[in-house]
Amino acid sequence: MVKSSQSFTFSVTLLFLIICGNTHGTDTDIFCLKSIKDSLQDPHKHLQSWNFSSKTEGFICNFNGVECWHPDENRVLNLKLSHMSLRGALPHGIENCTSLTGLDFSGNNLSGSIPENIATLLPFVTSLDLSSNQFSGPIPLSLANCTYINTIKLDQNHLSGEIPQELALLPRLKIFTVSNNSLTGPVPNFADGRVVVNYSNNEGLCGPSLKPCPNN
Ligand SMILES: *[C@@H]1O[C@H](CO)[C@@H](O)[C@H](O)[C@H]1NC(C)=O
Ligand SMILES: *[C@@H]1O[C@H](CO)[C@@H](O)[C@H](O)[C@H]1NC(C)=O
Ligand SMILES: *[C@@H]1O[C@H](CO)[C@@H](O)[C@H](O)[C@H]1NC(C)=O
Ligand SMILES: *[C@@H]1O[C@H](CO)[C@@H](O)[C@H](O)[C@H]1NC(C)=O
Ligand SMILES: *[C@@H]1O[C@H](CO)[C@@H](O)[C@H](O)[C@H]1NC(C)=O
Ligand SMILES: *[C@@H]1O[C@H](CO)[C@@H](O)[C@H](O)[C@H]1NC(C)=O
Repeated sequence: MVKSSQSFTFSVTLLFLIICGNTHGTDTDIFCLKSIKDSLQDPHKHLQSWNFSSKTEGFICNFNGVECWHPDENRVLNLKLSHMSLRGALPHGIENCTSLTGLDFSGNNLSGSIPENIATLLPFVTSLDLSSNQFSGPIPLSLANCTYINTIKLDQNHLSGEIPQELALLPRLKIFTVSNNSLTGPVPNFADGRVVVNYSNNEGLCGPSLKPCPNN
């Protein structure tokens, strides 16, 4: 019952994105990519194909790492920007890719903390891969508000602090990996077997299949 009402909400949301994106997606998505490019250092020029002088429908869909909902419409579905040696903070400009469902920045040199308002920046995200970067600070609580998310990969960063227990409430979560960080405290209480996790190489984590947590 709960499951089917969630998929209903998801389908309605997708429908909303498909219909309303036609009128609103375009300019903001172009602005989104411009601000991402402007905010990152790109020493190996992987984003050189991101040339904004054209204005044809769908021109951004040919950019390296950009996948659109439709090839002839400037509305970004996924950003696949892995292993590009990009440096800088996670660009807040992603908030203007308003129909974005997948963000892959794995294997870059991004640093700073994961934005506290990540759920406002990426309300429809289903897959977030920030693994193998230089991110530090905590995993933001607001990640628990990314209702549609099914994959979270944060391995190989410098993340610290406790993992928000609220992540256990994410209804669609299937993969949650945070290996090779400096996280501490109890791991979220995911229902058995529902979520594939990897907590390796976080000295301070405790809980089922790890060291026991100090009595609570
Ligand atoms: C972008 O494309 C235009 C027209 O094709 C070209 O004149 C310009 O040099 C390009 N800009 C960059 C930064 O590559
Ligand atoms: C990150 O930056 C360091 C230092 O500049 C460099 O040695 C390393 O190769 C970079 N890593 C990636 C994945 O670009
Ligand atoms: C998103 O777009 C709006 C309207 O164009 C702009 O005012 C805002 O600064 C943009 N956000 C970011 C983080 O670039
Ligand atoms: C999550 O969303 C709820 C409802 O919109 C809001 O009240 C809450 O502040 C959000 N939590 C975070 C950590 O952003
Ligand atoms: C984690 O660290 C180990 C040992 O340094 C390394 O072999 C492994 O590839 C790292 N994992 C990831 C996801 O980078
Ligand atoms: C978990 O992460 C560690 C470190 O990144 C890696 O070596 C190991 O293969 C991973 N385990 C699984 C089951 O993927």
